[in-house]
Amino acid sequence: MSQTKPVYASFRSIGAYVPEKILSNADLEKMVDTTDEWIVKRTGIKERHLAAEDEYTSDMGAKAAQLAIERSGISKEEIDLVLCATVTPDYFNMPSTACIISDKIGIRNVQAFDISAACSGFVYLLSLAKAFIESGMKQNVLIIGAEKFSSIVDYTDRSTCILFGDGAGAALISATDKKEEGFVDIHASADGSYADFLVTPAPGSINPVSQKVLDEGLNFVQMKGNETFKLAVKTLTKDVKEILQKNNINTEDIPHFIPHQANYRIIKAVGDALKMREDQIVLTVGKYGNTSAASIPMAINDIYESGRLQTGDLMLLDTFGGGLTWASALLPFAGKSIK
Ligand code: UT7
Repeated sequence: MSQTKPVYASFRSIGAYVPEKILSNADLEKMVDTTDEWIVKRTGIKERHLAAEDEYTSDMGAKAAQLAIERSGISKEEIDLVLCATVTPDYFNMPSTACIISDKIGIRNVQAFDISAACSGFVYLLSLAKAFIESGMKQNVLIIGAEKFSSIVDYTDRSTCILFGDGAGAALISATDKKEEGFVDIHASADGSYADFLVTPAPGSINPVSQKVLDEGLNFVQMKGNETFKLAVKTLTKDVKEILQKNNINTEDIPHFIPHQANYRIIKAVGDALKMREDQIVLTVGKYGNTSAASIPMAINDIYESGRLQTGDLMLLDTFGGGLTWASALLPFAGKSIK
């Protein structure tokens, strides 16, 4: 019987792109009936970045991807799969944003496709990359979370427009035979019975583009904020407990807890329930707002660029979003740290 050597998926590099334009709480005060005080107290968000009018999801994704490739030490030619998670693709529904990003960064004749898992998109992609690599089908998978959320936000709706921002993050996931570099575990799940908690009603097969769609603003994101909030705290906490318990890891041994950046109050409630120290929790929601599928890789990039993320450090990712979807991951940073 032939014996094949086990192969593991490893997190080689991270990159992100943050658009230049800033939308501050003071700007929002001039647009809707809100205050900086309310936004900071209820969400922790001080500002968010918005893409330029002629800057698209693929442009931001391509810039993040380029950086992740440069930092990986792996050449473009070695990449054999490109995956993009987004709910704000360049086009509904073809071509995929992954195809457009591939073209923009000069990767051709390589499998490329998008997935739609809202804020859980990046961790969902990690699970796909792991499966492709550990089955031996692919060696180097480029994964991208990119969103131009401002393209589906109604800037007259104070309950949503204060929350979201634009941006992108990307990572290079590669095959390794070193078990200590490999992902420890990933859990990903969904429950479609909560589909109406977070929804963009149009365009789609239910509501193709029509005058009614435009008149009723069905092309904008709608959210049952308070219900989503409560379920998010419960699910994120349960997810972390399960993945740590299954892998015999104590909360205090996690150097970097990187939750989806939707609302500071959600992160604080989860951190408190898990008895996390403040220095373990990565927080970027104050400056980027909620960037959906880009939120977690943008946060990883922040701790990478500040020198906080060191080679071998264990990262605990935890996310929750439209679908509803949720996912958690435990994995070491297998790239070269910056400092
Ligand atoms: O990324 C995917 C997952 N998404 C999330 O996890 C988001 C979860 N939800 C949230 O973050 C919060 O629910 C929000 C920040 C959206 C809202 O905070 P909340 O504490 O749940 O407030 P609420 O929706 O219960 O509204 C409380 C009050 C309402 O007024 P009344 O009815 O009590 O008079 C709202 O109309 O706050 C009002 N309100 C605002 N006031 C000032 C809602 N938005 C605003 C605003 N400025 N921007």
